[in-house]
Amino acid sequence: MTRWLVVCDYDDLPPERGTCALVEGDQIALFRTHDGRVHALSNRDPFSGAYVLARGIVGSRRGLPTVASPMYKQVFDLTTGHCLDDPAVRVPTFGVRLSGSRVEVGRP
Ligand code: FES
Repeated sequence: MTRWLVVCDYDDLPPERGTCALVEGDQIALFRTHDGRVHALSNRDPFSGAYVLARGIVGSRRGLPTVASPMYKQVFDLTTGHCLDDPAVRVPTFGVRLSGSRVEVGRP
């Protein structure tokens, strides 16, 4: 059963940028892409162990919205968390939905 927790207002999320939120003790990186969608990933870069993905560069690769880690530059698919440079690695993702103007993140 998913619980939906309000994290911020949609307008708090700058387009094409990451924003970091603390949700029940977990750092979550939120990304608002140019198409207006919001994606939520763990903020932890699995390669360095640093909590920095929210500060990565948003872009796209082969039509997929991506973020490049500011540490060693590996690129992650924002929709699935898969690392496009290393298929064995994946960042945990979270469900996101809008409730009016509020952004909610799903927790198991
Ligand atoms: S505190 Fe949010 S990315 Fe560092």
